[in-house]
Amino acid sequence: MENTRQSDGARELGTGGPRVMPIGLGCMGMSWIYAESGRDDAESVRVIREALDSGVGLLDTAALYGDGHNERLVGRAVAGRRDDVVVATKGGLVVDDLATKSIHRDGRPESLRRHVEGSLERLGVERIDLYYLHRVDPNVPLEESWGALAELVAEGKLARIGLSEVTVAQTAAAHAVHPVAAIQSELSVWTRDPLGGQTRTDAEENLLEWTLANGVAFVPFAPLGRGYLTGTLAPGTFESGDIRSVNPRFTAEAFERNRLIGEEIARIAEAHGATSAQVSLAWLLGLADNVIPIPGTRSGRHLAENLGAVGLRLSDAERERLDRLPQAYGSRY
Ligand SMILES: NC(=O)c1ccc[n+]([C@@H]2O[C@H](COP(=O)([O-])OP(=O)(O)OC[C@H]3O[C@@H](n4cnc5c(N)ncnc54)[C@H](OP(=O)(O)O)[C@@H]3O)[C@@H](O)[C@H]2O)c1
Repeated sequence: MENTRQSDGARELGTGGPRVMPIGLGCMGMSWIYAESGRDDAESVRVIREALDSGVGLLDTAALYGDGHNERLVGRAVAGRRDDVVVATKGGLVVDDLATKSIHRDGRPESLRRHVEGSLERLGVERIDLYYLHRVDPNVPLEESWGALAELVAEGKLARIGLSEVTVAQTAAAHAVHPVAAIQSELSVWTRDPLGGQTRTDAEENLLEWTLANGVAFVPFAPLGRGYLTGTLAPGTFESGDIRSVNPRFTAEAFERNRLIGEEIARIAEAHGATSAQVSLAWLLGLADNVIPIPGTRSGRHLAENLGAVGLRLSDAERERLDRLPQAYGSRY
């Protein structure tokens, strides 16, 4: 999709890239990581189509998610709707064992070429709109992995390429070889590492600042803190197989120590007659015009609620209250 969707407040996916609604849809949870008992492919396809009907332009998936399952699902949902959507997927992470979810990195050029061919086939498309290197492989110089993706752009298999979970130095090095269209990293009210510290004014290692200055889109993943920032989760309620049952941020102790964060967001939400999810997303949207969060949901109701954040404006004082909150207790993984 090239510059076709001009919805109000649309944001550019990197310089010269397609313009999309400022909130996309993360599709991962439909196939991977979260509770398996709630998975329903037919319902997931319906939710993705509902997103497209609502004007969502950016869908996020990866070969990793369910070892190809999620890409097939997205492929089913976008069949016949190619002009409505920017499909973003990722490669360079490989599933060893679906049951244990053990994975490894593989950024070798010949592997990436194979990964791209697999994604094209599963998505049922001739060209992938945005393709990320899911993680940098420590055994392969980034320039080699990135060079391989740039070649696939030249061959017309990928329209634009991006990186996930990288430093400013890595992004700048890649950008010098071939334009980085988008960076995807975890960023939310309780995970502010890409801001270089507590707030945007901390310039050191401020990845968001760098992307803004260089015409690169910033796509925050887990913008709702894997659900915590919606204020709807409780400790001890995650089934085995749901990553949160073993994630350090979702222990009973972490819930207690992070309580302040959830409560402050809820207070601001109440003042607006909004939800905590909407406040969390509005905070992200207000950081900079190149920010396009991709909240994940397999629920049509949550999708509609999350899109409602586009119209929510936080005051400077409210933003400061959120900026001042501590980052999450508990490591991300
Ligand atoms: N690049 C990477 O390495 C990487 C890593 C992780 C994720 N991602 C991408 O980022 C996307 C988003 O991240 P994520 O899904 O892990 O985390 P998230 O968006 O922070 O949170 C998703 C969780 O929040 C719940 N939720 C969503 N909207 C809600 C609402 N309005 N009210 C209550 N609960 C709500 C979802 O449950 P329901 O389904 O019940 O709504 C789900 O459990 C993923 O789908 C994936 O595409 C990328």
